[in-house]
Amino acid sequence: MRITFFAAKSYDRESFGKIKDNYPELELEYWETELSPKTAVYVTDSEAICAFVSSDVGEEVLKVLRDRGVKLVLMRCAGFNNVDLDAAARYGIKVMRVPGYSPEAVAEHAMALAMAVSRHLHKAYVKVRENNFSLQGLVGVNFHGKTAGIIGTGKIGAAMARICRGYGMRVIGYDMYPNPDLDFVEYVELDQLLSESDLISLHCPLMDSTYHMINLETIEKMKDGVILINTSRGGLVKTDDLIAGIREHKFFGVGLDVYEEETSNVFENREDDILMHSTTARLLSFPNVIVTSHQGFFTEEALEAISETTLNNAMAYLRGESAGTELN
Ligand code: NAI
Repeated sequence: MRITFFAAKSYDRESFGKIKDNYPELELEYWETELSPKTAVYVTDSEAICAFVSSDVGEEVLKVLRDRGVKLVLMRCAGFNNVDLDAAARYGIKVMRVPGYSPEAVAEHAMALAMAVSRHLHKAYVKVRENNFSLQGLVGVNFHGKTAGIIGTGKIGAAMARICRGYGMRVIGYDMYPNPDLDFVEYVELDQLLSESDLISLHCPLMDSTYHMINLETIEKMKDGVILINTSRGGLVKTDDLIAGIREHKFFGVGLDVYEEETSNVFENREDDILMHSTTARLLSFPNVIVTSHQGFFTEEALEAISETTLNNAMAYLRGESAGTELN
């Protein structure tokens, strides 16, 4: 079976290339171009395509893929809010994903962002490079003895909760399904989490019910001087409201690996572009905000697990077996 990869980067070729010989039944074709209605029409002789978080896997694309003979969409990521699952089912296309490749990779990045803003590491790095050894503006805050609020205590949220416990924090959580493995986490209602946490980290999926869950009203309920971290999905936070909150000095710091406008930026070098009407540019202008480009998943260990699960998914499909990673 031939699999056409969309938005393939050099690291995809590398991580999939390393294990490809173990899968002689599969032929991998790497396209750098992103998946869209315009590019999907060029798929030929591929029963499967492989897409990523930034890909458009909406109704129009799925219809084109169906017409090109595609029967399987392999998402090489965990999130699938960019896939129209109803349309896929209507067009007879199976969608599979990589549910949990390395929750620790994302959780460790969430803590890295929290540490960066709590100790102004992004500013300190630049200052010292300019031979400025003054401590002006670098007073930080301890995490030890503070309260961490984890919203969504699934695989990544649980890993983050364990990290926070290691820092000597009290850990509270909000989730409709408390995680039985987290006996040290105190589950509370969302309002209590918002009002008691010194560090809030978002780890729930983006759904209709979670869209813009961080907005003027919920920001208002947070403690002054809170640190907010989002490594989950940009749509969880209403960016304009976040900017308003930052301007009102609500936050000690904000760390974002994901943000609403990211789609056109993610994994692209746009250093020569002028960002027009961009809320991203406004976010970047604040000294207590650090933004990374959706790199929470990006470790050697996670890439290895992603490529292995993706190709195992393809093999399960070929054999007519269930891999437990099917979305429809
Ligand atoms: P998971 O499915 O193991 O856990 C999600 C948890 O959120 C579940 O326990 C669920 O009950 C809970 N939840 C659902 N709705 C909620 C709500 N309204 N309020 C509170 N909790 C709610 O998912 P996992 O693997 O932990 O991933 C979480 C998210 O992380 C993914 O949906 C994805 O968007 C994001 N992610 C980000 C990556 C990055 O590179 N930055 C990489 C991988 C995932």
